[in-house]
Amino acid sequence: MTLSARQDGLIRPSGMADSRDDNRSVGELTGGMSEQNAQRAAADSAASAAGELADRLIESLAPALELLTIEFGRRLGLYEAVLARGSVDPLELSQAAGIHRRVAREWLEQQTAAGLLDVDDAAAEPDRRRFMLPPGHAAVLLEPESPAYAMGAATMFSGTASAFEAVVAAAATGEGVSYGTFGAGVRHGLQQLNRPGFVSDLDDWLAWMPDITERLRDGGLILDLGCGTGWSSVALARLFPRAQVVGVDLDDASIAEARLLAAELGLGGRLRFENADATDRRQLAALTGAPVDLVTIFEALHDMNEPRQALEAARAVLAETGAVLVGDERVAEAFGSRGDFLERLNYAFSVLHCLPATMAEGTGTANGTVLRPSTVRAWAADAGFVNTTVLGIEHPFWRFYRMDG
Ligand SMILES: C[S@@+](CC[C@H](N)C(=O)[O-])C[C@H]1O[C@@H](n2cnc3c(N)ncnc32)[C@H](O)[C@@H]1O
Repeated sequence: MTLSARQDGLIRPSGMADSRDDNRSVGELTGGMSEQNAQRAAADSAASAAGELADRLIESLAPALELLTIEFGRRLGLYEAVLARGSVDPLELSQAAGIHRRVAREWLEQQTAAGLLDVDDAAAEPDRRRFMLPPGHAAVLLEPESPAYAMGAATMFSGTASAFEAVVAAAATGEGVSYGTFGAGVRHGLQQLNRPGFVSDLDDWLAWMPDITERLRDGGLILDLGCGTGWSSVALARLFPRAQVVGVDLDDASIAEARLLAAELGLGGRLRFENADATDRRQLAALTGAPVDLVTIFEALHDMNEPRQALEAARAVLAETGAVLVGDERVAEAFGSRGDFLERLNYAFSVLHCLPATMAEGTGTANGTVLRPSTVRAWAADAGFVNTTVLGIEHPFWRFYRMDG
């Protein structure tokens, strides 16, 4: 069957029931039937499930490919060029972005078909059509600090895909694929996904720890473990202008970019970035040099190959009245046979990125992306914390934990 014949669910043989419309189990469907009828019902049900799954795979292809065309637009500065001119025709875009005119035309048409751009007159000659961003789309595609910014989805997808062959090759040995191998795509994809939250919401998150924030208003020391390219540390330094902030990450490329960022923003005096292993308590003690009031670990605990050791190290450098704030995936409390969106998203990232990256760090826990609350509690208890509290912070992707004692 050709792809075009599969459009609009045509893959399902005509007359076949859609099991999405029928919640009965095979057992219920076959109850009371003769053996022959039961076999036919079971075969129909299997064929229906096959049609459904095939539809789903084929339907996934367009949005997946579209993510790459969005990253294509970001990498080549195409959205900026459209926005800067208000509207463009293919020649204008090709000249503005330095790409071939035919490529410019195809991308403009594709983006319009996909609903990312608008066209003024679809019936005009191809080279005369003018394309523009619909209202609201610039915030999603071009404004890194807007709460609506979602370019990270495209960058992260492309970065994850770029290491696919290495991930496949490493499956047999379990050696993993280092975080650095995923390159700028994953590093920047994560940055794009998380920066809006750090910039806009960090103060709301920390309002759940009033004893800690009160102290930090007068100074103090914050340690941001697994800080990536540094935006969480920057947001912490801005929120507490008298505090010292140390960002730590194992990935040298992330730390190099974080240092450039701190220098660019003029925060150099109070904000330091160190390339170190968060699980090494002696190293952390040497880097901080004084009791720490707040340790933060944003979307990084699950990536650490020895997470108990990281929490132990955090506890070892904490001031007596200090606390740890962990933000990590808001997955279900327990594994279930069918996952919701978050479960599916995090498991997929786990197979393709987090698990191999964590396994490349060594032979420790290798939790993967799906970090359940019971696991966090167990790790925190093993690390010696007396209290682990899930904070009531609302976040679409993360759950927040406070650890102290
Ligand atoms: C998913 S990224 C999150 C980065 C950043 N916190 C954010 O929210 O954008 C996880 C980070 O943890 C870092 N990481 C993993 N294991 C580490 C370890 N043992 N010590 C320090 N950093 C580590 C990785 O290099 C990566 O930058």
